[in-house]
Amino acid sequence: MKHLIFSVVLLFCLSCKKEEIPTCQDETSLYSLADYPIGVAIDFMAFEYDSIYKQKATAQFNSFTPENIFKADYLHPEENYFDWSAADSLVDFCIAYNKRLHGHTLIWHQQIPSWIENFQGDELAWELMMKTHIQTIVTHFKGKVTAWDVVNEAFEEDGTLRNSIWREKIGDDYIQKAFQYAHEADPDALLFYNDYNLESNNKKRKAVLEFFTNMHDSGVQIDGIGMQTHIDVCSARSKEIVEAFGDVVEANYLLHISELDIAINPKGKKINNKQDSFHDQAILLGEIVKGYNNLPPALQYGITFWGVSDTQSWIRTYYNREDYPLLYDDNYQVKPCYCILKKHLPL
Ligand code: XIL
Repeated sequence: MKHLIFSVVLLFCLSCKKEEIPTCQDETSLYSLADYPIGVAIDFMAFEYDSIYKQKATAQFNSFTPENIFKADYLHPEENYFDWSAADSLVDFCIAYNKRLHGHTLIWHQQIPSWIENFQGDELAWELMMKTHIQTIVTHFKGKVTAWDVVNEAFEEDGTLRNSIWREKIGDDYIQKAFQYAHEADPDALLFYNDYNLESNNKKRKAVLEFFTNMHDSGVQIDGIGMQTHIDVCSARSKEIVEAFGDVVEANYLLHISELDIAINPKGKKINNKQDSFHDQAILLGEIVKGYNNLPPALQYGITFWGVSDTQSWIRTYYNREDYPLLYDDNYQVKPCYCILKKHLPL
């Protein structure tokens, strides 16, 4: 009896023991430890002016997503003028250093220049304008950009189409048209649809998958789904997230975890104990990576983090709160989530 009680207590303690998070250093590239790409969003100003940032981004990651400089307001600031300067220099760097470049993003309702917002014309004129926008950009980078987020965030949380300016002016089929125009301009580029909350909102995810499966069945190319995965330690459920990955690969899309960050302070409170949250953040990331490792290799397009260090994270500026959602801290020291990632990467 005594033995039995002892064994039960031991079993209980073992099962509730928190996963050990090793301490580690970053002398090895993350990407060399994975058989799928490990990506990062590139903040172009930091890349240009912060040498440690550039060194970490280059040493650790083998897929770059421009965080802002490929968006319409940067690339296409005036109707008859495209500004390629920053984008070209990043593309040249990617070619020289063998980084995959993931183009983000062609059609979105945010970060569009005022000339688009104020564009006057009927449905046909809008469609032609969208076509010129997409095809000028895709043609310019043909053969240099592996894949495009053709359309970004076109769905509402309830699974209906967002009433963006594009939908309002061109009609519901602006999405199909955008994919067609991108494909015409570079038939070799992989084409993605990218959105947030697809990992947690079943209704939205199912609607998105149904929409694009219908589009694909009607003969319009789409290769992958970008699940942004902006999550936080309070609300994210790793089991649910991994199940969501399953839905995407079951529908036979490449799966890009495209903008991963794990916030620890979603309510914007005063933070008392960062270390506990860093632990939870690491455990959550570990579960996500383990889930991703189990997907069919042919559909693993990669995992992209939305920034190198907490310092540059968009969460701080966009939501105006203290937070620490990334792999490196403000002094470019690795955090527990970096070490757990290293531990669980497949190679
Ligand atoms: C964010 C950038 O990180 C910020 O620097 C910018 O101010 C706003 O956009 N979903 C997306 C990304 O698809 O393009 C967004 O990036 C974050 C949310």
